[in-house]
Amino acid sequence: MDDARRIVAADEVPSDGTVLFTLRNGSETVEAILTKLDDGAIVAFENACPHWTDVRLDKGSGAYVRNGELVCQKHGATFQRDTGYCDFGPCEGSILSTFDVTVEEGDVYLTDDAFAFEGLGGSGDDDLSSGSRIDFTGS
Ligand code: FES
Repeated sequence: MDDARRIVAADEVPSDGTVLFTLRNGSETVEAILTKLDDGAIVAFENACPHWTDVRLDKGSGAYVRNGELVCQKHGATFQRDTGYCDFGPCEGSILSTFDVTVEEGDVYLTDDAFAFEGLGGSGDDDLSSGSRIDFTGS
């Protein structure tokens, strides 16, 4: 596996929280979170809420997990950790965007060919909006 695509050691990914990291697609950066499922599998979701797409799920250090679900810090929508499905909140019925990752020899690697791994932590970009807000309802 390509070392440049190594995100973090699998042991460092919590099941009661998330690891924040940044991806790059050309000139654009995208934030994502890793979380560990109950069966030990590790999944990655975009760190953006489907309710208001210019709002991050987290407050800058990874999204919270409460009662086994990911929580949006803005209005408290909750998302199933295995599927990213929103089962409560203003964007109920929506699904978080995912990225492909795999675990090999104890490390988590980005396998999503559309993106390069930029680094751990946030992108440093305050504005996710690119000029507009898209609401889950389409408005
Ligand atoms: S912005 Fe996430 S629930 Fe409203």
